[in-house]
Order: sequence, then structure tokens, then C-alpha cells
Amino acid sequence: MIAQVDGASIAYDDVGSGPPIVFLHAFPLDSGMWAPQRGALIANWRCLFIDQRGIGESTASPPYSMDRFADDAAAVLDRATVSDAVVVGLSMGGYVALALWRRHRDRVRALVLADTRAGADTEEGRQRRLELADLARREGIAAVAERQISGLLGKTTREKRAEVMSTARGMMATASVDGIVGALDAMRTRPDSAATLSTIDVPTLVMVGDEDVITPIKEARALHEGIAGSRLEVLSGAGHLSNLERPAAFNAVLGEFLRAVNAY
Ligand code: MLT
Repeated sequence: MIAQVDGASIAYDDVGSGPPIVFLHAFPLDSGMWAPQRGALIANWRCLFIDQRGIGESTASPPYSMDRFADDAAAVLDRATVSDAVVVGLSMGGYVALALWRRHRDRVRALVLADTRAGADTEEGRQRRLELADLARREGIAAVAERQISGLLGKTTREKRAEVMSTARGMMATASVDGIVGALDAMRTRPDSAATLSTIDVPTLVMVGDEDVITPIKEARALHEGIAGSRLEVLSGAGHLSNLERPAAFNAVLGEFLRAVNAY
């Protein structure tokens, strides 16, 4: 399905039935990364999987910023006539989820922040974004995928789960250069969300893989400590893409959280 938003076509899948959940994907993947959650959840939940502006089936239309991505997600909820939803964001999706909370908190029933962080980029991190954008323009998406893949997946996955490696690689290979450069710009210029954490008063689950080197456990702890009443779950043997690397464990924790949220 498509939501027309401010000159862009934002693509999303709206599947299943039950209380709504919005899924926000990581960089440089698209909404297809949620395949293991889709299979497990659509019997009991209405799941909206959004391709961020410039990624997947969504058109590459500037401007790119976390605020813009959050407004796009809110527009998808409008189009789907969903008043509020559980918002699940992994990594970059978590940055968007925090922006969504700041800008449209009445649309957020509960939050799941997986393998993400509250802080803005360091100066060194910003420089790396610029270099990666340059690599994307010069050599294309396959070069970006190769640069990112080992950081995205944990040691256990890289050594023992060849099929997860190839799935993740395949997803990255489909992104457009403009969308990837736009997402890098948006991450580079995103604000620090540390002050946002104490404003969060909806049920919140923080998840992280214990082999995540991009947003390590200490980042998840900072989120957990900053959000009153939040729950922290560490998934063993998973790296940054914990939902793909340990899908059964991820789904078990997520399912339990969703049932608890739905109960009150
Ligand atoms: C992601 O997985 O979305 C990115 O690695 C996040 C980042 O680079 O900050």
C-alpha cells in the first residue's frame, strides 16, 4: 500500500488483524527484515511494515531527517486509520521511534527499542557517515553492503548461520543510492534523544543482542535506565540485527511484551 506524503510515496504492508503494531527498519535494510516477526505475529496482531522514505518500495524524495521519517510514519497511521500503535524500531528504526514519540506521542501506545541508542553521532561517527555516502555514490550499494555486513551481524551468526548472512546481504543489495545517502544524512544530523527518555511514559521494552558491536549493551542499559519502568532484555548469541539472528528468542520476548501491553 502507498501513503502519499508531502511529495513522496511511502510504501507499507498492512497485514494481519488485532491491535496494531508499526515496524520501523534498520539501515541499510528495508521492511523485509521483519519477515520472522511477520510470520509469528499476523495471526493476532495487525502489523504495519513501513519502508522508510528512499528505501525499499518508497520513493527517494528529499528532505531526509528523523523528524521527516517520523512524520511519514504518522501519515501511514492516518492513511491506515490507526489512532495509535505499538511502535517497534530497530537501530535506525529506534531513532525514528524516538522522533515519533517527540512529535506524535498520542500515536504511540507502547515502544520497543531494539539494538538502538539515544545519543547523537559523535564527530568521528559523522565523518564515517560522510565517507559511507561517498562510497555509495562512487561504488554503489553492494560496496556499502560489504562495508556494513560484518558489523551488523554478531560473531555467532557470522560463524554459524550462513543463511542469515546471505538473507541480510540480499536485503541490502536492493536499496537505492539516493535513499541510502538520504538515510545517512538523516542519521548524521539527528538530535540527541537523551532528554526525551524521561518523557516516555508508555510501556517500553528495550532489547539488544549481546554481540551487538554497533549499539552495544551499554547503549541499551542507558535507554533502560533513562525510561522509567522499562524492561531490558539481552539476547544471547545475537548481534545488531537481533530480530533476524535469534528470531525465536526475539519473538518470544516481543510476544510476551505485546500480550502484557494489550492486557491493560
Ligand atoms: C542501523 O542498523 O540502522 C544502523 O547501523 C544505525 C547506525 O548506523 O547508527
